[in-house]
Amino acid sequence: MELKKLIAEQAAKIDEVMRQDIDELAVELDPLLIEILQYGLFSGGKRIRPFLTTSACRLCGCSDEGIYHLATAFEYLHAATLIHDDVIDKASERRGAASVVEHFGLAEAILAGDFLHAHAMRLVSRYGGPQALTVFCRATTAMVDGEYRQLRNTGNFTQSESDYFTVIKGKTALLIGAACEIGGLYGGGDEELCSGLQAFGINLGCAFQIIDDLLDYQGDADKTGKATGNDLAEGKMTLPVIYALERAADQDRQALLSIFADPQERGRSLVRIAELVEHYQGFSAAREKAEELIDQAVAALPLLDDPGARQERAVLKELCTYVLNRDK
Ligand code: IPE
Ligand code: IPE
Ligand code: MG
Ligand code: MG
Repeated sequence: MELKKLIAEQAAKIDEVMRQDIDELAVELDPLLIEILQYGLFSGGKRIRPFLTTSACRLCGCSDEGIYHLATAFEYLHAATLIHDDVIDKASERRGAASVVEHFGLAEAILAGDFLHAHAMRLVSRYGGPQALTVFCRATTAMVDGEYRQLRNTGNFTQSESDYFTVIKGKTALLIGAACEIGGLYGGGDEELCSGLQAFGINLGCAFQIIDDLLDYQGDADKTGKATGNDLAEGKMTLPVIYALERAADQDRQALLSIFADPQERGRSLVRIAELVEHYQGFSAAREKAEELIDQAVAALPLLDDPGARQERAVLKELCTYVLNRDK
């Protein structure tokens, strides 16, 4: 089946499980909380993380439907991080609409994110057991650490490629790695299989964030559903800029740095920065790095004899290509 169709089909199943779950919660919870959860969860989103969980589970030969409940935990946690991330990044748009913080306010956004965090953990405990919960919590704490490191790096314009990778591994990739690993654990995969799935997810997750950072400069806001130029406005130095700074002639390097150092300049210099980064091949070098990571992800994917597992492996390989070429 064509990958996009498969993703849509899986996303519909995940949404069905989440809708039923939220309906059950609505019986006892505050109506505003329920409204915000519905707004944050059902306003779009690619559903990549739960897709990975169910696919990793199938790769291990398991077709138990309980995996869909476990997989929703990754979408709940992801939604929580997006709601909080838009507070941190002062982002007013998300998935083509006003972000939760913009639409409902700060206290409401903080509390809804907290609720989703706790709810996700409850589900992992219930459907995945203590081992899965440990993996899930480790990825969540690493995500917070990644965000802290990103905060520390904001305003530090001498950031290296390795600083950048420490941030994105923490804030994005480990969670994607955990989505794959926990799918494998639920599917009965042995240690080797689960660690292969985790390595696949971490490499894919790093590539995923690099593409997100490229889209922040080169994307079409109508497609991504979020404003371009937000990373620059926030003084977030991402991989294309780091590469351009490494290669730039002195004068251009100074020009780049002086824009980054001035919040007002940052707000009005997206085109100028993009020109400079393009001139020093920062965008193409970042894309090449994402391609390299995708090759590493594919190399880490477990090879099994079983025809079903081989078919699922092909799906995950195709997903890698989709992540590289995505425009939203
Ligand atoms: C956005 O994730 C945040 C990042 C980690 C880059 P997605 O691009 O998966 O967001 P949705 O769920 O599709 O909106
Ligand atoms: C993702 O990074 C951070 C998370 C852990 C949610 P970004 O800040 O680049 O994500 P977007 O671009 O706002 O979706
Ligand atoms: Mg953000
Ligand atoms: Mg981004």
